[in-house]
Amino acid sequence: MRSGLSRNLVGLVAALAWCAAAAQDAAVHEEVPFITSPDNVTLEMLRIASVGPADHVIDLGSGDGRIVIVAAKRFGASGLGVEIVPELVQRSLRSARDAGVAGRVSFVEQDLFKTDLSAATVVTLYLLPEVNLRLRPSLLALKPGTRVVSHDWDMGDWQPDRTEVLAVPDKEIGLDKSSKVHLWVVPERVEGLWCGSGLLRGSSLQLTQHYQEFEGALRFRERSRPVQGRIEGRTLRTPGGRAGELVLEAQQEQLRIVQAGGPLALAAGQSFVRAKGADCS
Ligand SMILES: C[S@@+](CC[C@H](N)C(=O)[O-])C[C@H]1O[C@@H](n2cnc3c(N)ncnc32)[C@H](O)[C@@H]1O
Repeated sequence: MRSGLSRNLVGLVAALAWCAAAAQDAAVHEEVPFITSPDNVTLEMLRIASVGPADHVIDLGSGDGRIVIVAAKRFGASGLGVEIVPELVQRSLRSARDAGVAGRVSFVEQDLFKTDLSAATVVTLYLLPEVNLRLRPSLLALKPGTRVVSHDWDMGDWQPDRTEVLAVPDKEIGLDKSSKVHLWVVPERVEGLWCGSGLLRGSSLQLTQHYQEFEGALRFRERSRPVQGRIEGRTLRTPGGRAGELVLEAQQEQLRIVQAGGPLALAAGQSFVRAKGADCS
């Protein structure tokens, strides 16, 4: 009698656990439904990111695999599609074989939030605003210069580097028969104090950063001048004013002067190195 009861109890607990897991799975699917990016949008997503043969494109929530397959077939890239619905993964694998790109692309059944993105040079998304925001910290931690492209949805206060709007007359969702394609280039992380080396010894660069924008102060020969500008991957650029355009390239904890005007022109090719302590002494 007792053992029958406990067997029933175990069965009930197992059934409840199965229901909870199924409900969680359903929630994940329902979070972002399967809707394909139309062909012109797919092409623009790859064009805006300048995808080429050296790129590895990861599409998070890859649906029927079209973005990764077009990246390989039209642009010569390699790619990975990450999709939670098994039938869509199987369909993508078949389409990749039919398109003759099965050797350059792969598709995995996986939760996009648990995906290792470190091999990506381009990440494509057609998800939802809140999903983009959940992904944002992992995207910002990718290698500087990695391009992130999102169909329609933005990244909150991380402003895109570029946005294109395309006509989509037969768009399945929404009243607006157009699609936005946003591009972000992951910026180098430059916040902090940098100390001059070589000809720049005694000078310093103190920077704060908000995504692709930086500002701060450059101390050179006892003078301090404010600097502000944009970060394009590993390149920092201040607009050309009276002091001329200043262009710095970030390389292995160094900021090398690529171009400078005024007295700093003499220091072209010299570098600032990241400060080891609170000051440059
Ligand atoms: C709007 S569709 C985009 C499909 C494709 N990227 C495109 O642009 O044509 C979003 C896809 O994300 C998948 N998806 C939803 N949640 C996911 C998750 N947690 N992990 C992986 N894929 C997911 C859905 O099954 C769906 O196929």
